[in-house]
Amino acid sequence: MAPASPHSTPRVLFITPELHPLIKTGGLGDVSAALPRALRELNVDVRVLIPGYPSVLAGLRDEQTIAQFAAQPPFPAARLLSSNSPASVPIFIVDCPALYQRDGSPYVDARGRDWPDNAVRFGLLSKIGAILASDASPLSWRPEIAHCNDWQSGLVPAYLHFHPGEKAVSLMTIHNLAFQGFYPPDTVAQLGLPLRSFGINGVEYFGGLSFLKAGLYYSDHITTVSPTYAREIQTAPLGFGMEGLLAARCAHISGIVNGIDTAEWNPSSDRALVRNYAAASLSVKAANKMALQRRMGLAVAPHIPLFGAVSRFTYQKGYDLLLQIATRLTDLPAQLIVLGSGDPALEQELTSIARQHPGKVSVRVGFDEKLAHLIEAGADSFLMPSRFEPCGLNQMYSQRYGTPPVVHATGGLLDTVVDCTPATLADGSASGFLFTDMTASSFLDAILRVRAAYQDKPVWRSLMHNGMMKDFSWRASAAGYRNVYLSLLT
Ligand code: ADP
Ligand code: GLC
Repeated sequence: MAPASPHSTPRVLFITPELHPLIKTGGLGDVSAALPRALRELNVDVRVLIPGYPSVLAGLRDEQTIAQFAAQPPFPAARLLSSNSPASVPIFIVDCPALYQRDGSPYVDARGRDWPDNAVRFGLLSKIGAILASDASPLSWRPEIAHCNDWQSGLVPAYLHFHPGEKAVSLMTIHNLAFQGFYPPDTVAQLGLPLRSFGINGVEYFGGLSFLKAGLYYSDHITTVSPTYAREIQTAPLGFGMEGLLAARCAHISGIVNGIDTAEWNPSSDRALVRNYAAASLSVKAANKMALQRRMGLAVAPHIPLFGAVSRFTYQKGYDLLLQIATRLTDLPAQLIVLGSGDPALEQELTSIARQHPGKVSVRVGFDEKLAHLIEAGADSFLMPSRFEPCGLNQMYSQRYGTPPVVHATGGLLDTVVDCTPATLADGSASGFLFTDMTASSFLDAILRVRAAYQDKPVWRSLMHNGMMKDFSWRASAAGYRNVYLSLLT
């Protein structure tokens, strides 16, 4: 193990495939930007390692080449860059044009198919992460902890385990167990892992190599992004086949709920809004509703509840329920705005619902950060019928924007939204609506409850106000990660 620093300032390498605003497909991008910043405020010397996709290289301003890695098949030669901008956290970038310089998403081509060499692409990220976290590093700065995020960095703990020299301890954070990085068995040798790692007590998973399983098996500790999800993944079906391993490692699993970037998601200063507002000036929010209705081609109707949704379109997010109730919802009457992209079938079905309900339903296919902010502010209520949700960020953004969410009672949604009941209204904690059964009728019941509350002005104001007053900042969660780091170093 690397010589320990005074434990008040742990040195951490945070290895991640996404980092907002340089590259983001979902919440991992947001978390990778905000958590390291919050950790640095707690005196943790954290530095981030990411791949050099085109948008990352284009977004750097002060980069320097600090190391070169010779080609080592299947890995092409790569350079390591360092930069302090724009994240205000030191970042290392793996610049390997043969693997990362391509248009489109970090994970899939323009037609939505996984890049065929993803095992090598994220194998290299993991390999360089492990080198930097060991005595093989060309850098003078050596982390004591390699903090890995999702399957793309899952091989770091495995490489470290088999490294004979001094090395960091490793922490694996699960943001989503549904993505596992699964490859054919010959990938094990190809990526330079010893064949003895290919077994149930190792990287093997249903006859192939799973990057995520490698991380879960070899890491010194595991965290996931909410306490409820930490429990859910230890049993089927939300363990996605890893439940046995996770239950066996339960003494080494912690659930730490995500925070949000309260500077970036702040209704009183957000520049994507037409008018800024705060808990004390809630009536101003209506200007954003009107602008959103206009922009999305909906009837400008101040008193009809407007529901918003922003998401990746995948099975996880439960939009099939939304499709089933769309007509009932518009009949309430109510309006609906959906922004997202992903599964082509869902994109088409949602677009066709919008065509059937002109002026009432509007669907925008694509990724649009500014529109996402305006939806949080302009909608009256935000919909998240997720089948499972490790944490979820939008339900926290919407509470902060005075837009009470409707969520399925799962994972981090259950941990961050307080259902509206007479008791929670009375004690001032009610901040949204939960439904328990993953069915269209249960979802619709929750939406009917929204409509009733929306019509009762004092109740609706309390809901908006309660959500806006909640503290979703990273402070407490970052302290949780710091405690995990310190416990790993003692
Ligand atoms: P997940 O990481 O599973 O996608 P989260 O709720 O944790 O879910 O985070 C999603 C993040 O991605 C949020 O910041 C959300 O606003 C953003 N997002 C998702 N889809 C889009 C989109 N089409 N346009 C803009 N932002 C999006
Ligand atoms: C994943 C999860 C989401 C979580 C995010 C950040 O993408 O699906 O629930 O909020 O990671 O941790």
